[in-house]
Amino acid sequence: MDVPSQSTTPLRVSVVGVGNVGATFAYALLLSGLASEIVLIDKNHAKAEGEAMDLNHAVPFAHPTRIWAGDFSDCAGAAVIVLAAGALQKAGETRLDLAGRNAAIWQEIVPEVVKHNPHAILLIATNPVDVLTYATLKLSEFPAQRVIGSGTILDTARFRYLLSEHFRVDARSMHAFIIGEHGDSEVPVWSLANVAGMKLKDLCVARGVGYDVKTMDEIFRQTRDAAYAIIQRKGATYYAVAAGIMRLTEAILRNQNTVLSVSSLVQDFYGISDVCLSLPTVVNCCGIAEVLRIQLDASEIDQLRRSAEILKHAIAALKLPE
Ligand SMILES: NC(=O)c1ccc[n+]([C@@H]2O[C@H](COP(=O)([O-])OP(=O)(O)OC[C@H]3O[C@@H](n4cnc5c(N)ncnc54)[C@H](O)[C@@H]3O)[C@@H](O)[C@H]2O)c1
Repeated sequence: MDVPSQSTTPLRVSVVGVGNVGATFAYALLLSGLASEIVLIDKNHAKAEGEAMDLNHAVPFAHPTRIWAGDFSDCAGAAVIVLAAGALQKAGETRLDLAGRNAAIWQEIVPEVVKHNPHAILLIATNPVDVLTYATLKLSEFPAQRVIGSGTILDTARFRYLLSEHFRVDARSMHAFIIGEHGDSEVPVWSLANVAGMKLKDLCVARGVGYDVKTMDEIFRQTRDAAYAIIQRKGATYYAVAAGIMRLTEAILRNQNTVLSVSSLVQDFYGISDVCLSLPTVVNCCGIAEVLRIQLDASEIDQLRRSAEILKHAIAALKLPE
């Protein structure tokens, strides 16, 4: 049979590190039907092969997709490359505790990825995600537009979920952001949280109920500390972050101009520069289209500056190339 010559390129997404997060993302991507090729790359090649076999067996229930365990040369031609390799938090460890270990892995991975694909958009999931997003930027020398950390996409989802339960509205109708570090110094933007444009305090007034600061503080505490609570119970977190990276991938591949709280290089925002952290950001087929210069209140600005300082300190300790 004559095989017709190909006039378009298959849409490829590569995943480096197919542990809990990488494999769950690959599964979500397969079910979405967005990619025609999914390449799985892992130091433990047998693990990548096993994941590829298992995912391929889901193809008849999903979408025609080529999935295989590859090596770094298979990053060539990928539109998006997800980096989810490396150590995860053990119970009681903070994300920043992982910096040294995962930065060492980054020195191996990023040059390999870049050698085979200087054009892709890189999505970083590994923790500490803001520090590694900055490290990726330096090691890859990619334009900042094409280096995106999952950042507080997950924390924002946790926050919106918990708020939506409390206020009894669909989580998708609850508009609120967590900004700053994906970690202990993250910042809830209470001043802009709203339902249908109504600030949460105004929503309470309209409903004739009190705005309970203690409950709001507890919602934020549960948001910030969710990873600790989940890791204590099941050892790792992966469904929600994989869904978040899937949403980010969709915004890129479908050029959606979606606003997501992702981590990217921040310059000159309330005096914060040269650090990667999360702010509401417009994402499209170019990667970062625009970091939105949201207006914060004085306390939020202080907290964000503190978060940036903590991240800068962690970045400085890595001694990355200038
Ligand atoms: N950004 C977020 O919101 C978020 C949420 C959850 C977890 N994470 C982070 O994601 C990372 C992965 O977590 P996980 O639960 O999937 O861990 P995991 O241990 O299940 O998987 C990590 C995988 O990376 C592979 N790996 C290690 N070194 C490698 C290398 N040099 N090249 C290729 N592959 C390599 C391992 O073989 C393993 O399969 C962790 O750092 C974790 O903290 C981030």
